[in-house]
Amino acid sequence: MSGITIALAKGRLQDASLALFQRCGIDLPDGALDSRRLLVEDNSSQYNFIFVKPGDVPIYVEYGVADAGICGRDVLMESAADVHEPLDLRFGYCRLVVAGKPDSAAQGHNPLVAARVATKYPRLTADYFQRHGVPIEVIVLSGSVELAPVLGLAHHIVDLVETGQTLRDNGLVIIDTIAESTARLIVNRASYHLKRIPIMELIDLLRKGLKTVSQPDAKQPEPSAAGDRVRQ
Ligand code: PRP
Repeated sequence: MSGITIALAKGRLQDASLALFQRCGIDLPDGALDSRRLLVEDNSSQYNFIFVKPGDVPIYVEYGVADAGICGRDVLMESAADVHEPLDLRFGYCRLVVAGKPDSAAQGHNPLVAARVATKYPRLTADYFQRHGVPIEVIVLSGSVELAPVLGLAHHIVDLVETGQTLRDNGLVIIDTIAESTARLIVNRASYHLKRIPIMELIDLLRKGLKTVSQPDAKQPEPSAAGDRVRQ
């Protein structure tokens, strides 16, 4: 492999990430995305793209297997990876929220009294409830987290909300917002120095690509049921 290796998150951020690279003149060979290949070189042979699970992007970048990556701020906060974060790419807006059944949101003075909280974000969840002085048991799930309060596995969840549809369709409401998230460019600390010129070229290209988009592709989620205080 030559050039710069970039880790991309599969799933919700992948299409917008590739669209941004395309606007910057960085194209993948025709049909490359139709295959199951997880490592693809761009047409200029300057960039190698690897496609990984969102939560793994900071790991690949922190350990230097990838020089750079694109992942959500939510994933970055949860990983606490030691990487540079030079650019907010502004797409992929979503919020990390505490949610539950409507009756749990309307529990008078303290809507956060709960014994079990299901989430894909155990670190951020533990931090949040600790800051609020509420002892909880964190139940780590890897998806379909909204099922947990519906089936009685947990009292609350901490999960992402983009359009609010998944919460709505499962009869859940937002209790509080923990953080807002958009896609971020992250860079390995050593690559930032050792490959300074191509990394700066990449940052510059992406910055220019962002200027060609007037609005972020954010879909605003539903208003919360019990206040909506953003804690960063
Ligand atoms: C994410 C998130 C929510 C849903 C929110 O799940 O964990 O479940 O999207 O989106 P919405 O507000 O637009 O409905 P994802 O689709 O990544 O699948 P998962 O449940 O398997 O994690």
